[in-house]
Amino acid sequence: MPETTTDVNQAADRLNAGRPVAFPTETVYGLGADACNDGAVSQVFSLKGRPTGHPMIIHLLEPSQMADWAEDVPASARRLADELMPGPLTLVLRRRGGRGDAASGGHPTVALRVPEHPIARQLLGKVKSKALVAPSANRFGRPSPTEAGHVADDFADADLLILDGGRTTLGIESTVVGLTEPKSPQLLRAGAYTLNRIEDGLGVAILSGEPGIAAPGNLDSHYSPKQRLVVLGKDDFMNCVASMPQERVAAMGFKKPGGIEDGLWQQMSSDHRLAEKNLYRQLRLLEKTKATVIAVNKVPLKTDWHAVADRLMRATGIPSGSE
Ligand code: TXA
Ligand code: MG
Repeated sequence: MPETTTDVNQAADRLNAGRPVAFPTETVYGLGADACNDGAVSQVFSLKGRPTGHPMIIHLLEPSQMADWAEDVPASARRLADELMPGPLTLVLRRRGGRGDAASGGHPTVALRVPEHPIARQLLGKVKSKALVAPSANRFGRPSPTEAGHVADDFADADLLILDGGRTTLGIESTVVGLTEPKSPQLLRAGAYTLNRIEDGLGVAILSGEPGIAAPGNLDSHYSPKQRLVVLGKDDFMNCVASMPQERVAAMGFKKPGGIEDGLWQQMSSDHRLAEKNLYRQLRLLEKTKATVIAVNKVPLKTDWHAVADRLMRATGIPSGSE
C-alpha cells in the first residue's frame, strides 16, 4: 500500500535513503529518485514497469546545474533556460561522460528540466544531490497522474511514499526540445509550453515531426485508459452512440452527443490550457465508468492544441509521427 504525506522532510529523507517518492510538479506527478544513485534509479524503472533503455528526465533545482550533466551547454540552451526555466521545458543535450548512465538508459544524451512547482523545488533543495529522475508517476502506458489519488490508483500494491500537493496546475507534460545539434533544434515532444513560446524563446524556427528524430522512450507514452479510445471528427462524434450499438459509449468533447448519459460525459474546454489541465483527469474519470469504449472529439488543428492532439492520438494506441 502506498503512503500519502504532505511532509516534504519525510519525502526528502526517503529520497536521501535511496528510495523512490512520487511528488507533484506543475505538469504531472513524477516518480522521483536520486538521479546520482543508480540503485534508486533502477527501482523507478522496475516500479513503473519501464524498459531500462527508455531514458528519464533529470530534474534540477537551477539551470546552472545543466553544466554538471551535459558535455556542453550550447548558447541556445542557455537562452531557452533564461526565458523559460523554471517551467515545463525539458532540454535534451549531449551527456557528460560518466554522469546519469542509468537515468539515460545508456543513451549519449541527457534530458534536463528545472520544475517550477514550489513543492518540487522544496524537495529538490533538501535532496543531497539536488537532482531527481522523475518519469510521470503512472504505470507504463497509463495516463499521467495529475493528483495524488491517481498515483495511489496506479501503485495500489507498491511500497511507495506519495507527497501530496493537490492537483497539478498545467496537467500535461513538459515540452521536450532536442539541442544536440544546436543549429537545428528539434521538438521531441509537444507539451505545456506551446511551439510559439519555444520559438520565441529560441529566436529561430524549430523542426518537428521530421523522420529520424524520434525521442527514445516516447514509445512508452500511450497514455491509455483501460477501454479502447477512438478519436472522431465532429459529425461522427455527434453520432457516436447510434453508430456503435454494440458498445456502451462514454464521450469527451466540446458538445455533448445525443444519447449519452451525464455520468458518461466529460466536457472539454475550448481553451487549450484548460483542456490540457483536465485531460488526464477526465480520461481517468471515464475509465472508471461502465463504458466499453471512450469516444473523443478531434481537437482543432492548431499548434496550441498539439499537446492534447498528440496525447489523444497516442491513447488510441496508434501513435503517429516520429515513432
Ligand atoms: O512534465 C514532465 O516532463 C514530467 C514531469 C514529472 O516532470 N515527466 C515526464 O517524464 O513526462 P517521462 O519519463 O514520462 O517522459 C520523458 C520524455 C519522453 O518523451 C522521452 O522520450 C524524453 O522525455 N526523453 C528523456 N530522455 C531523453 C533523451 N536522452 N533523448 C531524447 N528524449 C528523451
Ligand atoms: Mg510519461
